[in-house]
Amino acid sequence: MLERVLFPPVRLDPNTLRTHVAGRRVLITGGSRGIGAATTRLLAGAGADVVLVARDTDRLERVAGEVRAQGRDATVIPTDLRDPEQLEALLRHPAAADLDILISNAGISIHRPLAQSLDRPDDVARTIAVNHLAPARLVLGLTPTLRASQGFVVNVSAINVLLPPAPGWAAYQASKAAFDQWLRSTAPELESVGIQVRSVYLPLVRTDMIAPNPAYRNAPAMTPERAAEIIGATLVRRRRNYQPWWTTPATTLASVLRGPTEAAYRRYARTRQKHVP
Ligand SMILES: NC(=O)c1ccc[n+]([C@@H]2O[C@H](COP(=O)([O-])OP(=O)(O)OC[C@H]3O[C@@H](n4cnc5c(N)ncnc54)[C@H](OP(=O)(O)O)[C@@H]3O)[C@@H](O)[C@H]2O)c1
Repeated sequence: MLERVLFPPVRLDPNTLRTHVAGRRVLITGGSRGIGAATTRLLAGAGADVVLVARDTDRLERVAGEVRAQGRDATVIPTDLRDPEQLEALLRHPAAADLDILISNAGISIHRPLAQSLDRPDDVARTIAVNHLAPARLVLGLTPTLRASQGFVVNVSAINVLLPPAPGWAAYQASKAAFDQWLRSTAPELESVGIQVRSVYLPLVRTDMIAPNPAYRNAPAMTPERAAEIIGATLVRRRRNYQPWWTTPATTLASVLRGPTEAAYRRYARTRQKHVP
């Protein structure tokens, strides 16, 4: 019930989606599982051909097999997005020369309090590499292709970017915010050459990403299929962004109440992190 109120379903007519994506070629990063795999199934079901990128070849092939079973084309390009050489190889792949839509979805999330982060500077490096540097490189490298096809860039972002930064989430939140800012800054120039840009700010989605965090076990979360429908809807609508309805009052309130919000976080941090060396 609460989930229906917080995440009302988007209206997405399958025929309308088909009109927009049938026969189009879509590169989906993080297509091996979670939101990326659900989005792949949705778009392939509507007649799109897909190029799937992630590290786990077996999982990628499994999703690609489902796409091929629906009669659509699927190309698998196993890539570690943290590795600049693999990124360049991805951009040189023949499949990257013929695309209509880039769905930048691959991501990693880390929740770690400061006390446990002091000897983990790699948390910052790897979240920035996957969540910001790689998608920025992909957008730059694919702009000529997407310009030729008058295509789309869709950024699968998080509501965290819109809300006040919370303790423990520094690496994740900074990396998601960095790419969000980069893409919003670049969007007018991309749009001036006919590439449409969409940002999808998702709340909790029940995937592997949130599984390790016990706090989320009973929290309201949407399904990956619902998230996929939201991503699909951005390809058929004029509206550039999706964010759950309640984030609009929440962000306004958070901006007015920045002082009290930060004070509350300080109180929370004092109770939780008594042992920062
Ligand atoms: N789940 C949520 O609550 C939530 C909320 C808001 C926003 N989001 C965003 O939604 C997107 C998808 O998240 P999800 O929930 O579907 O997560 P997930 O189930 O953990 O899937 C993450 C995907 O990213 C790929 N990936 C991770 N590191 C990679 C790397 N170094 N190189 C290439 N691919 C990599 C993974 O594939 P391999 O492991 O095979 O490489 C996997 O396909 C992320 O950008 C996330 O920030 C999620």
